[in-house]
Amino acid sequence: PRHIYLSRHGESMYNVSGKIGGDSDISPQGWQYAKALPDLVRQNIGDGPLEVWTSTLQRTIQTGSFLPFEHKTWKSLDELDAGVCDGMTYEEIEEKYPEDYEARDEDKFNYRYRGGESYRDVVVRLEPVIMELERQENILIIAHQAILRSLYAYFMALSQEELPYIKIPLHTLIKITPMAYGCHEERYPLPI
Ligand code: F6P
Repeated sequence: PRHIYLSRHGESMYNVSGKIGGDSDISPQGWQYAKALPDLVRQNIGDGPLEVWTSTLQRTIQTGSFLPFEHKTWKSLDELDAGVCDGMTYEEIEEKYPEDYEARDEDKFNYRYRGGESYRDVVVRLEPVIMELERQENILIIAHQAILRSLYAYFMALSQEELPYIKIPLHTLIKITPMAYGCHEERYPLPI
């Protein structure tokens, strides 16, 4: 069977400071994950070719940089655009845009950041990626929290209400195997 592997980028400097969005580098911990990823992948993939897809953002490219496979970058895999809130912490957003903060909490799937995107927008822009994914063999996607929630929800047939809350931890490789009915899933955290 073919497999689809999903991983968030290694911890970024923005992750460390609690800021959202941006295009920061990965942290020393993030580099540890990047260096461990080739072994984690090798131990958990079957035979057959593998292609690595990243976003255009540095943190995903850096995370994939030690993987000896063909690489492809997709703008459509870039993280949900937080618009005017890009680069802020959740506390700063709550203070500066309290109504938006509340509105997002009310309906996280449909809430669109000012000058940015909603989860619904992300799901729409991922359609071409999913179409291509369905035509391919083994693919490892290194992307971002909101992007991977959307892809994961597609394969696991989760609802729009659940989607924005799916747990996609850092430093964990997720293996999805499409079956006749639904998908099988395994998770491999970075061994420490
Ligand atoms: O904090 C990391 C991050 O990828 C942000 O860049 C992004 O805005 C956020 O997660 C998405 O998660 P949530 O929709 O829960 O805010």
